[in-house]
Parts: sequence; C-alpha cells; structure tokens
Amino acid sequence: MANTLTFEDRVVVVTGAGNGIGRAYAHEFAKRGARVVVNDLGGSVAGKGSDTNCADTVVNEIIASNGHAIANHDSVVDGEKIVGAALSEWGRIDVLLNNAGIAYPTSFHEMTPELWNRMLSVHVDGSYACTQAAWPHMLEQGFGRLLFTSSPFGLYAAAKFAHYSAAKAAMLGLSKALALEGKEHNIHANAVAPFSASRMTGRTNEEQARSPFGPRYLAQLAVWLCHESTIETGGVFEVGGGYIHRVRNELSNGLHLPGDMHTAENIAEGASTLENYSNAIHPKLGESWTIGKDVFGDGWSSEF
Ligand code: NAI
Repeated sequence: MANTLTFEDRVVVVTGAGNGIGRAYAHEFAKRGARVVVNDLGGSVAGKGSDTNCADTVVNEIIASNGHAIANHDSVVDGEKIVGAALSEWGRIDVLLNNAGIAYPTSFHEMTPELWNRMLSVHVDGSYACTQAAWPHMLEQGFGRLLFTSSPFGLYAAAKFAHYSAAKAAMLGLSKALALEGKEHNIHANAVAPFSASRMTGRTNEEQARSPFGPRYLAQLAVWLCHESTIETGGVFEVGGGYIHRVRNELSNGLHLPGDMHTAENIAEGASTLENYSNAIHPKLGESWTIGKDVFGDGWSSEF
C-alpha cells in the first residue's frame, strides 16, 4: 500500500535519533518526504560521554536512501541550538519528536543529586528546552506537531527507577498542558509510553530490525500522530510490538463526606468505596476540576 501520510515540505526534528526509537522515527519521516534534523549527543545509555558518529551515521543512512537529513550533536538541554539547526538549514520547524532519553536503575536510598539531576535534566529540561525553542515558530505558522516520550514506568512506575518514573510522568503533564495551549493554533501534542527493542533494552540495530517488538511500530504511530490531517491531541498512547492502547484517567465512585462527617474514621469505614469503579468518571483533557465542579457547579472553570 502506498504511503498516503506524507511530509513533503515539512521539517521534522527528532531528538535522540542516533539509536533505537529515534533512529526509526528519523528514517520513517525521511522516507515520507520530510527534511529531518537528526539530533543525538551520542552518549551512553546512562548519559555519559558523547560521540558525533551516532547522529552522522543515521544521516548518512538517510542520504544513501535519497532522503534529506542533517546532523546535530547538541544535548537536548540546548534546545535553541537544535531547533536553530532546522531554522538555519530549512527556515522552519513543523514537527518535534522529543525522544532523547537515558536510563539507569538507582535504589532510592542510593539516590544522589547527581543521579537525580542527570535523569531529570535530559527528559524534563531537554523536552522543555526543545519545545520552548520550537513553540514561537509553530505559533507563527499556525501549525505544529509535538510528540513527548513517557514510559510505562512513567504511567505505572518501577522500583529502582524513581528518577526515571518521575521524569517520564512529567512528560504527561507537559504534553497535555501544551495540547490545551496549542489547540487554537493547530499545534498538537501527544505522548507515547513505548516498549521497544533498542539499545536501551540491549538490542543491536540488526536485532531491532528483526524483533517482533522493534522500533518500527513506534515510528508508524508517530507518523500518524504528527501528520497534518490528524486531529488527535492531548492523547497518551501505550505502544509496542504492534499493539496501541490509548490511556485515560479514571476516578473511582469516590466518597463524599461533607462537613463534620469528614473524619478519618469515616474515611476508614468507607475506604472500600474508594476502590469501587462501577460508576467511574473519566475526566477529559483540561477537566482538572472534577471535585471543583461538584462543589462550585458548572460555572467553575480551569481557564485562568
Ligand atoms: P536508545 O538508548 O536506543 O536511544 C536514545 C538516544 O538518545 C541515544 O542515541 C542517546 O545518545 C540519545 N540521547 C541521550 N541523551 C541525550 C541528550 N542529552 N541529548 C541528545 N541526545 C541524547 O533508547 P530508546 O529505547 O530508543 O529510547 C528512546 C526514548 O524512549 C527514551 O526517551 C526512552 O526513555 C524511551 N523509552 C524507551 C523504552 C524502550 O522499551 N526502549 C521504554 C520506555 C521509554
């Protein structure tokens, strides 16, 4: 079947595109006509060191397949430079895939400021810096597509990954808030929680290409989410190995104990109701005031 979701005239920045999922993104968008900035610092999985070969190799692969790509070797914390590379080469940025990431386990009792900050810096500060640099250009052109990279560890957490889980949970809030702010400007933001064979999960490029849970699955979802014809925004998708699930928030039936009834003892007595989801509520994007609405009525708004 022909590729109908194409990106001719679009400029796409992929961070962390030297390996794994980002590399698959860069190849797929280039195959579909995009001009691609292949950003990668080229460090280790734990975020140590740097190597320009990492991004350069992917650029050479894309050019060898008749695609258009340039390399950028900055860290994502220098978002201005990465977006600047797209602007100085092609004069615009249409799609930003915030994908760069690092991972290393740390028991919480062994956590140090350095271990914590190294993790938060790449995921949170890096995604912020790149998006902040791209945002005014997307606003001005009235078009933009943002993808943020969370993780199952960001959704459900993992022991020994408090720093990683916290950083990946932050991607959900960032993506959803920007989906709300971008709505009127045709700027869409979505988040993925991937599972994929990659360097991070100990697989070589050859193994990734053969794997039944290779990064190509991520690339197809990213293409759909970031295409100009797609209206999806504010979504969170758990994805991998051919499976895609949309993730939503769910509130249980809940307890309503107003006034003097609101005692710890009554909460203890009603605690099982907190686990009852038979009349669950599913707040929509921007509906941050589920309780606020109950207390203050429909006039209550999350708009400031
Ligand atoms: P990977 O290790 O294969 O690739 C990540 C790339 O990001 C590397 O090439 C690395 O050099 C680059 N990078 C790291 N720090 C950077 C920085 N400061 N500036 C620029 N580039 C930087 O990892 P993989 O698996 O492809 O991961 C991609 C994203 O998906 C990451 O955000 C990761 O946390 C996330 N993820 C991956 C999962 C998986 O199953 N592979 C599971 C959940 C989330």
